[in-house]
Amino acid sequence: VYKVHKVHKVYKVLYEPYNFINLINEKKLRFFHWNKFSKIKPFSYFCKKENRMKKIYTLPELENMLTCQGEEENRLYSESKRIKNETIGNNVYLRGLIEISNICTKDCFYCGIRKSNTETARYALSDKEILDAADFAYTHHFGSIVLQGGERSDKAFVDRITRLLQEIKKNSNNELGVTLSLGEQTEDSYKRWKDAGAHRYLLRIETSNPELYAKIHPNNPLHSHATRLRCLESLQRCGYQTGTGVMIGLPFQTITDLANDLLFLQSMDIDMVGMGPYLEHHATPLYEYRHLLLSLQERLRLSIHMVAALRILMPDINIAATTALQAIEPAGREKALEIGANVVMPNITPTTNRTLYKLYENKPGTHEGAAESMRKLEESILKSGCKVAYGVWGDSRHFQSRTEN
Ligand code: 5AD
Repeated sequence: VYKVHKVHKVYKVLYEPYNFINLINEKKLRFFHWNKFSKIKPFSYFCKKENRMKKIYTLPELENMLTCQGEEENRLYSESKRIKNETIGNNVYLRGLIEISNICTKDCFYCGIRKSNTETARYALSDKEILDAADFAYTHHFGSIVLQGGERSDKAFVDRITRLLQEIKKNSNNELGVTLSLGEQTEDSYKRWKDAGAHRYLLRIETSNPELYAKIHPNNPLHSHATRLRCLESLQRCGYQTGTGVMIGLPFQTITDLANDLLFLQSMDIDMVGMGPYLEHHATPLYEYRHLLLSLQERLRLSIHMVAALRILMPDINIAATTALQAIEPAGREKALEIGANVVMPNITPTTNRTLYKLYENKPGTHEGAAESMRKLEESILKSGCKVAYGVWGDSRHFQSRTEN
């Protein structure tokens, strides 16, 4: 909580004034004693290449990006598209998504596989099923996979994931990249998994606002915003390419919350982001608040604006066009790719279990086989003016420059 508070304070004090800098006459600053941390800096400071790149966006500017319409909206999209193509090009990287289990120790109020949902049958893929799916990704030149699942942190689970990672790396001659999305763990577990071959980790913050976080999670230490933040820092310390993200259009969420989410992602210097619309699930406590929600179309549009604004804010990170976007309409994912996203995560979970991994309703692609999903995916990527980059890890450019410096 302290950390977030600090972050917000820093924006207020340091970042906002940057935007007025262009209005300040250099001469007036001649006798002003400034340093890197001064609120006011001479214009020449921003003319240096390394500083020029750091255009800082204010909260109101970001709020405008999220709500703009008509001509302004077109300008937002063309700017984010231009920045994307200039910085990282139009390659789309694939992560074969393997949903290893829907058994979860958490009870998040929005999630269909929360522990207390007794309507869902629980499954866990066998080692063979997981290894076969990884093999499918390898032989189809996906470049990398994501192991995602309900949260467990018991020793047997941590040991099993370690073993599976070693096997996957061995079976693919060390060639398949592996991202994990297995929730909050101890730093020691994160280290073990990194040593065993994982190199990217996704852990969504869900919302950067601790008060909103408290409204959508049970009030107990297992569901703590501060712990989630500490885990993200652990992941960065362990040397993972670190990904996080938020849900968009949650009940009680404001545009200011979302604009702050964008500033949060920037202040955390995050390498990858997966964010998408919140979609209600009837067997969850948040369903009761569905009357507070924006329409599905509005949530979709807001999500696309978030992707565009984030691309402008963080030009060289990896941004996923998430499944939840596609759940509202297939064109949602295409639009996200066209204006800012560069990663997709085709589902390669064995079809028999796919219907059970239902975080929200109307989850797309729960009935089709892997080959059919692939065909559809290629088609939609081409439609968005992008191309699939096969057989490469597709690491975040941001991570490369962050670690080189
Ligand atoms: N709608 C949208 N996204 C959801 N997630 C979980 N439940 C929902 C929902 N109802 C997202 C969360 C979580 C990720 C695995 O799925 O952001 O971190």
